[in-house]
Amino acid sequence: MPKTFFITTAIDYTNSAPHIGHAYEKVLADVIARYQRLKGERVFFLTGVDQHGQKVQQSAAKEGVAPAQFVKGVTQKFVDLWEKLDVKYDEWAETTADRHKKVVREILQRLWDEKQIYKDKQAGYYSIRQEQFLTDKERGPDGEFGPEWGQVEFREEENYYFKLSAYKEWLLRYIDPAGAGRDAVIPDFRQTELRNAVERLSGDLCISRPKSRLDWGIELPFDKDFVTYVWFDALTNYISFAGYDAKIDKYESQPNQFREKWPALQIIGKDILIPAHGIYWLIMLHALGFPDSAMPQLLVHGWWNISGAKMSKSTGNTVDPAALAEKYGAEALRYYLMSDIATGKDADFSEERLVRRYNTELANCLGNLLNRTLSMVAKYREGKIRQARAEGTVGETLCVITNSKIREFVAEMEPAQVASALDKTLEIVVRANVAVEAAAPWKMMRDPAKADHLDSFLYTLAESLRIISIVISPVLPKAAHGIFDQLNWKMELSGKEERFRLDDAKWGGLPDGHVVGNPVPLFPRIETPSAL
Ligand code: ME8
Ligand code: MG
Repeated sequence: MPKTFFITTAIDYTNSAPHIGHAYEKVLADVIARYQRLKGERVFFLTGVDQHGQKVQQSAAKEGVAPAQFVKGVTQKFVDLWEKLDVKYDEWAETTADRHKKVVREILQRLWDEKQIYKDKQAGYYSIRQEQFLTDKERGPDGEFGPEWGQVEFREEENYYFKLSAYKEWLLRYIDPAGAGRDAVIPDFRQTELRNAVERLSGDLCISRPKSRLDWGIELPFDKDFVTYVWFDALTNYISFAGYDAKIDKYESQPNQFREKWPALQIIGKDILIPAHGIYWLIMLHALGFPDSAMPQLLVHGWWNISGAKMSKSTGNTVDPAALAEKYGAEALRYYLMSDIATGKDADFSEERLVRRYNTELANCLGNLLNRTLSMVAKYREGKIRQARAEGTVGETLCVITNSKIREFVAEMEPAQVASALDKTLEIVVRANVAVEAAAPWKMMRDPAKADHLDSFLYTLAESLRIISIVISPVLPKAAHGIFDQLNWKMELSGKEERFRLDDAKWGGLPDGHVVGNPVPLFPRIETPSAL
């Protein structure tokens, strides 16, 4: 069966507008999806929104509208943002969609029939403000529940439980570094964190909420007085929108359209590894009969902070990605989000750094290289580049550097270290600009004995720009097309269906005698407002 590279992201809560963390995660997924396509892989990229649950119900109530209407408005903001940021997904997951609700209900029914779900009575301390039962973990050092929980009362409630703890030993074995799930979680230290958490795991997972306290959810198929817990609902999106048939319990008998995609590479933030994805989700899949070889791989990214502090709506320190894209352009924002954070680590968001990186790396470096190359070819060679042989030249060195940087780029992209991969491309640009100063084509130009040298050098510059466009295309798709256009490198000329292919990122693609276009500023400088 031909395999498809299947990539998913967390689905975003629709209890409020998108923030910069959401934008980062989706752009990261989009870049990985585009990179896989560049390699020639078939790709299926799924993302969407998480529309049910307590928080959504509360936000809707605060605005005095029905939850369904509320989520429609917030969902539209996410859809518009992805369009604006050029995030191109293949399927959109909305958890209120019928096709999703059907799979969730069928899964619940199956687990209930198999007695993997049971009903039980819970008695304990309950926070009315947070609408949840509290455990001893929530007690402060003085043994009391802190003021953040508001009024706390003793309650008894019947609920449905999923037999999570029955699978603890399986999960520990699976995520053991010597086990099948050796690379189940990236980076490594997150897998270690997960193992420690699983070792402490005790008790089962309450998967229901009585309708009396929450009705904005998917009703349990075997008890209409309850809705399912939002995580059970949300996690299922990764298979319900990929063609999973919940009525078929044998994994091997799942429809091909599902099997060819699954398992997925799942991109999530660090806050939802434990317990949601690392414990609930892996165990849910195992309980549904997914073999170890069909477990997803979890790529866990870090968080953007603001001035060192956690982003928070209540303190007002959130950043609106749509406004930033409006102000600086989508490509400037994509470039910043991909270049200023190491995948897996946290970073501090700064508009000033966004502007600085754009101006130095894109405007002054890459934009300048394109501009001066095309200007020189126009001025000295009437737009025509020639593959002249001239050995021992700066141009030859640049060819060697480009080839080795491309190999390093690939080595960084494979584990999704996008910022380091971008560094490698930038090094080509920097070296090319230095080479221009060293070779001084404007002097060569006056020496007829150097004609071949000049041709060879100009070819080298144009060729490095062609290769750079290919490798930056996942992060900067518009700019990559822009460079190809200005190089006059049309699709018909490469003779290939895809305009960008990683296979073409090797030396010698531009033919002898190719006529390039005229330079047009690709990255106009951002004039820094005095506020920055
Ligand atoms: O967790 N920096 O939704 P969510 C980077 N609906 N990433 C951030 C971030 C930040 N400051 N803040 C949040 C949910 N994220 C659930 C997921 S999946 C079946 C359900 C990331 O809107 C966060 O880590 O709170 C998560 O991966 C994503 O944004 C959505 O967060
Ligand atoms: Mg969250």
